[in-house]
Amino acid sequence: MSELFDPAEFISEATQLLKQRAGSRGAIVACSGGVDSTVCAELVRRAIGGRVVAVFIDDGMRREGEPERVAHALGSMGLKVTLVQASERFFDALKGIGDAELKRKAFRETFYSTLADVARGLGADLLIQGTIAADVVETVAGVKTQHNVLGQIGLDTARYGFSVTEPLVELYKPQVRQVARELGLEDKVSGAMPFPGPGLMIRVVGEVTPERISAVRTANKIVEEEMKGSGAFQAFAALIPVRATGTKEGRRTYGNIVSIRVVESEDALSATASDIPMEALRRIAERIVNEVDDVSRCVYDVTDKPPATIEYE
Ligand code: XMP
Repeated sequence: MSELFDPAEFISEATQLLKQRAGSRGAIVACSGGVDSTVCAELVRRAIGGRVVAVFIDDGMRREGEPERVAHALGSMGLKVTLVQASERFFDALKGIGDAELKRKAFRETFYSTLADVARGLGADLLIQGTIAADVVETVAGVKTQHNVLGQIGLDTARYGFSVTEPLVELYKPQVRQVARELGLEDKVSGAMPFPGPGLMIRVVGEVTPERISAVRTANKIVEEEMKGSGAFQAFAALIPVRATGTKEGRRTYGNIVSIRVVESEDALSATASDIPMEALRRIAERIVNEVDDVSRCVYDVTDKPPATIEYE
């Protein structure tokens, strides 16, 4: 995408294209509350109005309060919204899987079969989703299987009963944010930190359990609270379920390790670990060890991307 990107022109072309693609069909738009899917949902709303339903899947991997908050925000934009409770389905599908790529593939399958059930129930046969260029680049390069990349790696969506349209697939994050501002979306959406489709699942190294997800959810909340207003591209916590010895109130503890990750980036294809004052890191570590069950120590991840990736899996 060139420097001369014109968000107003993009909006007009994307809306036209969505109108044509949808024709008289019923459509769903997969939403997470992040900037990509919210921009996508707003474009579809402008294109086909009441014929689209915004679907938010509560897969159990979301941040605290996120499902209700996002469903409410989408409703306030004038969209019809369906909030699907599917946590158990996801935890069942992920049970016993420790490998990062297998987790991602199991997540993807559960995600699309859940969407297929919703689409069938609503009589919709078009799925619109906010996949962006970086998602495709990383999946095709074999870095990691992004949950929302299908056609580009030869997967046929016909078995789910819908075809897929991706209006943002040629844009990178900075352009998506420009479009968000042009659409008049709230600053907290256009400037939101990226949060991955598979959510907290990829912030637990190895097998996910409800307990581990709950721990990393609280740790994430603490990092986000403490880093609020810092301007970091992403700031989060990941749970490394390896035990280390600690001491609390004069007694031995033997808890998990939490890694604090804060990065600067433009487009998520490369990133640098942020230079965080020690005082802030110490405060975050202290809160995490005190407020999250079964955690005995925190580390700060100083690895850039490459050679690491931003998320842990
Ligand atoms: P990585 O970890 O690959 O992340 O350096 C690059 C950016 O993408 C986000 N991310 C994802 N987003 N589905 C998404 O929608 C995914 O499967 C996924 N995996 C990573 C990540 O948070 C970062 O912004």
